[in-house]
Amino acid sequence: MCGIVAYLGNKPAAPIIINGLKRLEYRGYDSTGISIFENSLQVYKKAGKVVELDNLIGSKEFTSTIGMGHTRWATHGEPNDTNAHPHYSFNQSLSIIHNGIIENYNILKKELLNKGYEFSTDTDTEVLITFIEYIKSEANCSLEEAVRQALTSIDGAYAIVIMNTNNPDQLIAARKGSPMVLGVGDGEYFVASDATPLIEHTNEVVYLKDQEIAVIDRDKFRIINIEDEEQTPVIQQVELELDALEKGGYDHFMLKEIFEQPNSIADSMRGRVDAANGNLTLGGIREYSKALANSKRIIIVACGTSWHSGLVAEYMFEEYCRIPVEVEYASEFRYRNPVINEGDIVIAISQSGETADTMAAIELAKSKGAIILGVVNVVGSSISRVTHEGAYLHTGPEIGVASTKAFTGQLSVLIQIVLNVARIKGTITESKFKELLTELSTIPVKIKEVLESNAQIEYISDLFKDAHNFLYLGRGYNFPVALEGALKLKEISYIHAEGYPAAEMKHGPIALIDEKMPVVFIATKDSSYEKVVSNIQEVKARKGVVIAIVTKGDQLIPAMADHVIEVPECHEALMPLVSVIPLQLLSYHIAIMRGCNVDQPRNLAKSVTVE
Ligand code: M6R
Repeated sequence: MCGIVAYLGNKPAAPIIINGLKRLEYRGYDSTGISIFENSLQVYKKAGKVVELDNLIGSKEFTSTIGMGHTRWATHGEPNDTNAHPHYSFNQSLSIIHNGIIENYNILKKELLNKGYEFSTDTDTEVLITFIEYIKSEANCSLEEAVRQALTSIDGAYAIVIMNTNNPDQLIAARKGSPMVLGVGDGEYFVASDATPLIEHTNEVVYLKDQEIAVIDRDKFRIINIEDEEQTPVIQQVELELDALEKGGYDHFMLKEIFEQPNSIADSMRGRVDAANGNLTLGGIREYSKALANSKRIIIVACGTSWHSGLVAEYMFEEYCRIPVEVEYASEFRYRNPVINEGDIVIAISQSGETADTMAAIELAKSKGAIILGVVNVVGSSISRVTHEGAYLHTGPEIGVASTKAFTGQLSVLIQIVLNVARIKGTITESKFKELLTELSTIPVKIKEVLESNAQIEYISDLFKDAHNFLYLGRGYNFPVALEGALKLKEISYIHAEGYPAAEMKHGPIALIDEKMPVVFIATKDSSYEKVVSNIQEVKARKGVVIAIVTKGDQLIPAMADHVIEVPECHEALMPLVSVIPLQLLSYHIAIMRGCNVDQPRNLAKSVTVE
C-alpha cells in the first residue's frame, strides 16, 4: 500500500528517487521520505505528498549515488513526520523503507525493549530494522545474513530496501506478499514497487519472488532466498510507454482515463475480437477453456470496482453459459471457510493484480484444488503470476485512484470469456454469438458518443455539487452500474451515495426520498425498462429529484425525469460499458467543483496491498 523506490548507480540518486516517488504516489500519499548517503546515512522525511519532500530538500545539492525513497499509506501510526519512512535502526547504522505489515511486530518490540532498545516511532517498520540491527550485532554477521535471519522470524507482508552506513555501495532488498521489481540498467540498478519509476531508465527488469532477497552492489547483483539458496534471476523486458504515465494535456489522470476509454476498449479487443469473421481468440485462456466450459459453478473473487464488474459477469455467465456463478468479496471469502471443490473455477478480477485480499482468496482456493483464472490489468503483477491462466485487460496503466477504464476493460474481457465459453458449450446460437461480438466491436464508437455529453454532464454536476446524499438505482445489468456510480461519487467527492437494485428501493431506501434527494436512475431500454419507469414514478411521487441515464430517443422517461443524459442504444448485456461513462463524468465534475483531489482522494490508495 506504499510506494518504494531505490537507486544505486553513477548518477545523483535524489532526483531519480523523487521522480520515481511521483510516479508511485498513486500507491499512497500521506507522507514521504528519502534516505541517501552523504558521508553518513541521512534521512529526510515529511508528512504530506512528494511535493512536501521536494520543498524540504529545497536546493540542497546531494552527490550521493545511492538512495531510496518511500511514499506512505499509513497502517501503523498516524501519518506524521515521525512515522514517515525511511526509518533508522536504533543506532542509526541502518535505514529502511517498507511496504506491507509486520504482523508480529508487537512481540518483537517487547523482546527488543527488554534488551534495552528504544523506539522513536509507532511503526512496525522501525521494529523490523532494529531487529535486523540486533541480529547483526549479536551474530556478528553481514547485513545480508542478518536480513535473511530476521525475515525467517517475520509474519506478515513486506517489500523492503535497506541501506547500511558502513557500506554505502550496497542495497539489500527483499519481498514477501508485497510487489517488488528490480531494474537493471547500464551500470546502475533500481528497485521499485512497480516498473513505472524505472522505464525512463531501463526496460530490463527482474520481478522478485516471495521470500527472495536481492543483494545489490555497484557492479553486480545476486538473488538468494531466505533459506540462503542462490537463485537464478530471470531478466524480462517491460513494455510500458512513458506517455502512458503522463497526463497528456488533461487536468487529471482520472479525466484522461475516462476519455481514453474508446481506445482502451479497442485495445482490450485487439487481436482477440474479429467481428467481421465471427472469430474470438483468447490466447491467455487455452488449456483451461474446456474446464471452464464444463465447470459446475464459477466463483468470482474481487474487491471494489472489480467486484462490480464481477457482478456484471455473473449475469452474463448465467445468461449465456448457464453456469451458476457466485461473486464474492475477496475479503469475506478468504475468512469464511467457503466450500471449494477440486477443479472448481475461480476467476480473480483485479486492476492492479496486487490487492492483498484477492491474492489471499486465490491462495485459499488454489490450496483446495481450484483452477484460478485471472482478469488483470497490470502485466507481471503478483496475481497474474499466481493464476493458472488468464486474460490481461491491455488497457494501459490506470493511475487515478478511482477506477474507470479498468472497469470497462474488465467488462470487455469478461464478455469475451463468456462468449468463448458459451460457444464451446453450445449454449449460444451462432447468430447470437456474432450479434454480441459485433455489438462489442461497436462499443468504442458508442463511448465516444457519450463523451460528447461532457459539457451537459458538467452543467448537471454544478446543480448537484452541494448535495449531501445521492441514491443510484438500476436493475438487471444496470444494477452493478448503480453500485459503481455510487462508489465513484463517494470515493472522490466525499458525498454519501448508495447504489441499490431499483426494486429494492421500496424495502427501505424510499424513506430517504424528499425534494433534496438526487436519485440517479440508470434507465436504459432493456428487459426491465417498464419496471424502472414505475420506480421513477415512485420517486417522483415523493418529490425526489431524478437524473436519468436513458437510451437515445426515449421520450417516456425524459417527460418524468428532472434531468436526462442520453446514451446510444446498445444490447443490454453490454450496456454497462456505455451507461457507466456518464456516472464517471458526473462524479469527476462534482468532485472538481467541491475542490477535491480526484486523482488522490483522502485516505485511499490505488492498490490495497494490506488486508
Ligand atoms: O486493483 P484492484 O482492482 O484489485 O482494486 C480493487 C479495489 O481496491 C478498487 O477497485 C477500488 O475500489 C477503486 N478505488 C475503485 O475506484
